[in-house]
Order: sequence, then structure tokens, then C-alpha cells
Amino acid sequence: MEKLAIEGGPKAKTTPNVPMYPGGLEIGETEKREVMEVLDRKYLFRYYGPKEYPSKVTELEKRFSERLTSKYALAVNSCTSALISSLVAVGAGPGSEVIVPGYTFFASCAAVIAAKAVPVICEVDDTLTIDPTDIEKKINKNTKAVIAVHMRGASCDMDSITKICKKRGIKLIEDVAQACGGSYKGKKLGTFGDTGCFSFQYHKIITAGEGGMCLTDNKRLYDRLMAYHDTAACWRPDRFGMPRYEGEIFCGVNFRMSELTGAVMLAQFNRLDGLLSKMRKNKKRIKDRIKRLKNIIFRRFNDEKGDTAISLIFYLDHKEKVKPFVEALKAEGIDAGGIFDKSIPDWHIYAHWKHIMDKVTPTEEGCPYTCSYHKGKPVEYREDMCPKTLDYLSRSVHLDVPAQLTDEDCDMIAKGILKVAGRLLQ
Ligand SMILES: Cc1ncc(COP(=O)(O)O)c(C=O)c1O
Repeated sequence: MEKLAIEGGPKAKTTPNVPMYPGGLEIGETEKREVMEVLDRKYLFRYYGPKEYPSKVTELEKRFSERLTSKYALAVNSCTSALISSLVAVGAGPGSEVIVPGYTFFASCAAVIAAKAVPVICEVDDTLTIDPTDIEKKINKNTKAVIAVHMRGASCDMDSITKICKKRGIKLIEDVAQACGGSYKGKKLGTFGDTGCFSFQYHKIITAGEGGMCLTDNKRLYDRLMAYHDTAACWRPDRFGMPRYEGEIFCGVNFRMSELTGAVMLAQFNRLDGLLSKMRKNKKRIKDRIKRLKNIIFRRFNDEKGDTAISLIFYLDHKEKVKPFVEALKAEGIDAGGIFDKSIPDWHIYAHWKHIMDKVTPTEEGCPYTCSYHKGKPVEYREDMCPKTLDYLSRSVHLDVPAQLTDEDCDMIAKGILKVAGRLLQ
């Protein structure tokens, strides 16, 4: 048997690692052209400039809503902003509890606090997305919304989640930050919930460095999203007119998207299909070559066809095996990692959200945890409150699947996994 690289043997992968910036690495002439057009026109603000031009942001919204089949799209400056606006739009605020998965980027949880509601942390299952059975257990009369996060590119169990939310009269917000373009049973992610929230931060599939989008099919929610993200100022047909219906105008914030971001995103949006098909091809190529391995279990999918394929994740049977396995892969030249290790901070796992665990709030009175509108038992947090989540995450081996991998890269990655597994997982 070939000597492992960690023991001084030859590396399985000899090509350089490709960083995981799928859209970012493709930035080129079309992005430059779009941005230069905005600059040449001196039309940097969506609603006006020295001369009138069609807005890039409006064009992006139009394309997004058409392509992702949603009635309304609203561009914002981040997914966190999209989540906060969505929470406000659905009426989650003081007194509300919002259920979020214990495995997501911390922003999904921070958005709840920013909206003055209390996050309730929920288990994920072996799909690494929110566990519908645990959602049901966590619902009480304070529950206003669930944030379903399509984590690491793959969909939540949307049949079960939409059913639960409908039955219990709870709003559903989808966090599609990591799964733009993904689908569940043929329907695009972001179109199941009351709203769907996207990120264009630099690490995401398509990117402008920062940026976000909200989708909804509900006109009232769209009005509320519009009002909140734009201090209720610019969007109405008559900017200075009286409210057209009760509650139409309320104070919001400024989460607007700039025309420069809109320009980059127009070019990036055209790249989405190409990026998805490359990542899917690469992932399949690696997976096909390692699927005969007996001692690993692949992450389960709610709908593998709709997976965006940004990551390849499998479980080992014991968490103690992950560190040596990953170190051996790294020595082989493969950019792999574990997901949860108590000693390694990571903002994607609830047990590391110290400021949530300790209920640290920006102001002294402790809002939202001390809110008098919250009835019944206060929400409590403990690092071991979601044992199933920690078990799956601590047994996970994770690999990014960049769109820019060559077939040769994929074959070498598969070869390295087979080699290391052949030695360490017997
Ligand atoms: C699952 C998830 N939700 C929300 C966010 C927040 O996105 P943004 O940085 O655009 O606010 C991220 C970004 O990393 C994310 O991964």
C-alpha cells in the first residue's frame, strides 16, 4: 500500500488548491463593463442622478424574480439585511420567538436579535439542515417564525417545514445565502417561504463582495420589506403622499443596494448556471470515485438533484477519527476540514455563539431577552442543548467544491481520499 504523505510518501494531489470564491474568481470583462457604464453615466444611486438611466438594481431584481420564479424581488445590501427586513415584514419583534438551526452562519441568529425577537436554537439532522421534528418540539405560543437555512448548498426538508408552518400559523423565512440557484423537488429555493433571503458576500456562489436579495410572492410583505429597507422614503408612487392604507408607512433603516453592486451582480447573475453546472460536475466526479468506500457515510440530501454542490460532506463513525483523517488529507495536498471541534472557534455552530449562549446584548436592559411582551418561560441556551447537531458536525469531514477545479484536480482529490481512508478507516 502506498505510503501516506503525512508519513513522508508522495502527495496524492500535486496541483495548487483552488480557493472557494466561485463567482469571485470569474470576475472579468462583463463585470468591468457593467461597472464602467454606471461610472460613465455618473448614475450611482438607484432613484436619481444628473440624467435618467435605467437602474441596474431594478434590472437585477427583474431578472432575479423572473429566473427564480417569484412575484417580487427586492435588492438589499446583505443577506443579514434581507433577514432583518423579512423578520420585521412578517411581524416578528418584541415578544416573538424565532426558530433557527444550530448550524448556520451566526448572522441568521443575529438578525433575530436585531429585529428584537428571541432566537430559539433547533437541531439539524443528518442533512445538516434544520430538523422538522425538533421544530415541532420548539414551537409555543410565542413562536412567530422559522428561519430555514439551506446550509452548505443543499435544501431543507421543505415539504415537512412548509406543512408545519402552515398548520401552526407560523411564518417561514428561507435563508438561501449558501444555496443560490438550488432547488427542492424542482422548485427554486427562496420561493417556499413567506420570504427568501440571499447573500452576495464574497464567499457566496455569485458575488459583488457584499449584497443581498429578498424574494416574496406577497404584495403586502413586499411593501413592508420596501418600507423597512428604505426608511419608507423612496419607493411609493407618490413619495410625499399620505399612506395608501393603514400602517403602510413606518420608520425603517437604509439597507438599499448601490448601482455599483447592482452592476457587478447583473454580470454575476449571468454566470450562475455555468457555475452550478461546473460544481455539480466536479462533485459528481469526486463522489463517483469514492462512493465504494464502506467506512464513510455521505451527508443525506432532502433532494440531491437540487443541491448546488458547493461542498462535499461525509461522516466518520467516531469524532476522534476526524482530526487524523483531515490532517492526513491536508498532507496529501487536499483542502479538507472537520466542521465542529470544541477547541476551534467557528461562527457556524451554535455552541461557539458565546454572546448568544451568555445572552450578551448591545444595551444594558437586556432587550430582547428581558422584553415584557414575551410571555411564559424565558428562552435558555446551553452549549450542549443540541446534542444531535454536535454529534453530526463533530463526525463530519468537509471539502469545498470550487467551480474552477479541473478533472485532474477532482481525480487527485478522490485518489487522496481513497488512499487515506484505505489506511485510517480500516
Ligand atoms: C447561512 C448564512 N446566512 C446569512 C449570512 C449573512 O450574509 P451577509 O454576509 O450577506 O449578511 C451568511 C453569510 O455568510 C450565511 O452563510
